[in-house]
Amino acid sequence: MKIIIAGTGSALPVRSVTNDELAKTVDTSDEWIRSRTGIGARHIAGPEEELDVLGAAAAEQALARAGISAEELGLIIYGTATAGYVTPSAACRVQARIGAVNAVCFDLNAACSGFLYSMYTAESMMRMGRCRYALIIGGDMVTRYLNWEDRSTCVLFGDAAGAAVLAATDAEDAGDILSFSMGSNGSKGAVLSCRTLPEDHYLTMNGQEVFRFAVRTVPACIRDALEKAGAEKEEVKYFILHQANARIIEAAAKRLEMPLDRFPMNLPDTANTSAGTIPVLLDQMNRDGRLQRGDLLVLSGFGGGLTWGAAVLRY
Ligand code: ACO
Repeated sequence: MKIIIAGTGSALPVRSVTNDELAKTVDTSDEWIRSRTGIGARHIAGPEEELDVLGAAAAEQALARAGISAEELGLIIYGTATAGYVTPSAACRVQARIGAVNAVCFDLNAACSGFLYSMYTAESMMRMGRCRYALIIGGDMVTRYLNWEDRSTCVLFGDAAGAAVLAATDAEDAGDILSFSMGSNGSKGAVLSCRTLPEDHYLTMNGQEVFRFAVRTVPACIRDALEKAGAEKEEVKYFILHQANARIIEAAAKRLEMPLDRFPMNLPDTANTSAGTIPVLLDQMNRDGRLQRGDLLVLSGFGGGLTWGAAVLRY
């Protein structure tokens, strides 16, 4: 049995805020943000643009591209750390919106690695024969947990959701998910942390430690996943990395000794959307024709927990 990405979708809030606009209320500048992070603007959700609204919009596009109906889904996993409700889950709320009446639905919190972890979980369940079609969504509303007076964090994030329909198939010419390399380190949780108490709900981060963690861990888990897949890095068409920061992506490319043009980025327009970055970028690349069936792709995420992971797949 093979497992392919049959369709993708993405949704961004309507309101986009440039660095210059942000600099009117926060003591920062376009030059500082751009040179340190590669970020030029971020989308910020309005009160109606809840996580399930964006997730359902992304899901409907992914279903249409996969050519299947919502009723055919056996599983919905929403990778998110900002579901907004303790219950019902964002996945159940998406289910209600799209009418996926036959799906088992739950959220999965692995912070910025949420989409990778959701893929890892769905893939295992599909290989066991639990379902033929699964919907995995990665999305976050980090802007609702930002202290807008803390310039060291508030400039970095935006809101978004992206989705992929995974399909199990026996078709000979189909692609496949070839390997994963996943990890967590709870003892470093304080590096990137956010509580949900009414009096304490701001995201805090030790930026330099996150930076060091990312540039060490991402190339290592990508190498491990490639080895498990029996693939060489030179065969990889694109390395689709979590979009936290252009400098992290540049450092990962350098450590992997691979050209930067194989590391697509959408940071200038969408900033760091946590679990949303990988599926949104995947969908943008799918829509603009950069993804072709048969391409070897690496997806890699890292974030709070700490959590990280890489997947190698034949698209
Ligand atoms: N605008 C202007 N000045 C700022 C801003 C800002 N937005 N933020 C911080 N500064 C100032 C600081 O106050 C400090 O000033 P000082 O020297 O007078 O005290 C100076 O800039 C340097 O601050 P640092 O925090 O040391 O800045 P650094 O060069 O480390 O850059 C950054 C910060 C961009 C966050 C960097 O640490 C980084 O890239 N870290 C990676 C973390 C990351 O990308 N996290 C994303 C979320 S986590 C995730 O997705 C997994």
